[in-house]
Amino acid sequence: MADSAGNDTAAFDVVVLGGGSGGYACALRAAQLGLKVALVEKGELGGTCLHRGCIPTKALLHAAEVADSSRESEQFGVRTTFEGIDMPSVNEYKDGVVARLYKGLQGLVKSRKITFVEGIGRLVSPTAVEVDGQRYEGKHVVLATGSYAKSLPGLEIDGSQVITSDQALKLDRVPTSVVVLGGGVIGCEFASVWKSFGAEVTIVEALPHLVPLEDEQASKMLERAFRKRKIAFELGARFSGVEKTEGGVKVSLENGKTIEAEMLLVAVGRGPTSQELGYEQVGVEMERGFVKVDEHCRTSVATISAVGDLIPTLQLAHVGFGEGIMVAERLAGLEPAPIDYDGVPRVTYSEPEVASVGITEARAKEKYGDDGIETLTYDLAGNGKSQILKTAGFVKLVRQKDGPVVGIHMVGSRVGELVAEAQLIYNWEAFPDEVAALVHAHPTQTEAVGEAHLALAGKPLHAHG
Ligand code: NAI
Repeated sequence: MADSAGNDTAAFDVVVLGGGSGGYACALRAAQLGLKVALVEKGELGGTCLHRGCIPTKALLHAAEVADSSRESEQFGVRTTFEGIDMPSVNEYKDGVVARLYKGLQGLVKSRKITFVEGIGRLVSPTAVEVDGQRYEGKHVVLATGSYAKSLPGLEIDGSQVITSDQALKLDRVPTSVVVLGGGVIGCEFASVWKSFGAEVTIVEALPHLVPLEDEQASKMLERAFRKRKIAFELGARFSGVEKTEGGVKVSLENGKTIEAEMLLVAVGRGPTSQELGYEQVGVEMERGFVKVDEHCRTSVATISAVGDLIPTLQLAHVGFGEGIMVAERLAGLEPAPIDYDGVPRVTYSEPEVASVGITEARAKEKYGDDGIETLTYDLAGNGKSQILKTAGFVKLVRQKDGPVVGIHMVGSRVGELVAEAQLIYNWEAFPDEVAALVHAHPTQTEAVGEAHLALAGKPLHAHG
């Protein structure tokens, strides 16, 4: 049997619906383990992360860093003239990065002999997905249809004055001013880019802090840095409405304030893409639109698993990779361990960056009691490389008293790269004196991680204590 593209449609071991981070990771690993795999994708292989998320935004953030470096080069004794942002060229650079990775990924899927089916898939039975009238049967089905940018009730996205990150990534100019609704990860990253590109930016966040899921001390440090960069923000402020004006938008808040700008970016979270795909009809249990799963990503239907932004776990590409791989291994008969979601690193790639792994001080207090924890904050002022870079911030440790480190929270330029060591410390349940015994390279920012542990182990080097 073959479909119109000549693909073999005889029963597969696994049919994966959705070719984003979660879906393609599952397909690649399953094929590597010898399973016969079909991967169904309606748009472009790579999904949100590659085409509308992680990769293009980080390219913009890198261009923003280059703009800052050239604008501020004089403080390093280097004279340059900053002439401005040529947005079509920035987009060409960004799209070039995406295109190269996209080509690589297509090659990878082909080389693993995965049947790639282009088209809109729909779940039609516990073991089948239908695409354009053609049925693809599998012993197992993996749902990985991802997420979309949400809006608020009554707030209509018009794609020009009121936009989401989808359109923000495609702008052919730098707006003169923007209101960013939502001070979460997407809001802070775009605010950072646009400020570096020369726009006036105001963030509106309903909760009391920016990046509210982070340790409060990290949020406050980011707020201090944003204030210094003249990125405006309204905290504890709820959106009440938006009016179109000649020059753009007039945004009203529940506290009575109004803010005028050229455009409004809506960044109030992402919702699961789960409607009209046949999930409920086939008996898959759902919760607020998310597919419900157990710790091994099994749904309520024995032959169906679900991974990525579609399930109510952290909406991060690397979580999707992890879940996809875990499901593939389980379906191949291995016994993978469930993911410890607290042990997954989180990075906000704004300037400065915010990076963390483990739990916040507030959660550690709930878990171990106020007297059951110890914390230590190592200021980057004592770290040579951070001084060379002229960045401010810290490495904060939270440990269980007489126990391992349970949270690492960092703010500063480039600290996202330090999260690799932090995640080993958390996931291997290291004690501060074990990390303190490791010699860190000088002068690097990783030294700040070493010094924080030296201090928490009672033997601070470049710190008072
Ligand atoms: P988010 O959930 O991180 O932030 C949304 C923010 O909007 C929240 O702080 C919320 O309090 C606020 N909000 C909601 N309703 C509001 C209202 N009516 N008025 C004012 N503020 C309101 O969601 P975001 O930033 O849209 O990102 C979506 C997902 O994508 C997240 O899970 C995020 O982790 C992920 N992502 C991860 C990135 C990374 O790892 N670097 C980059 C971009 C996105």
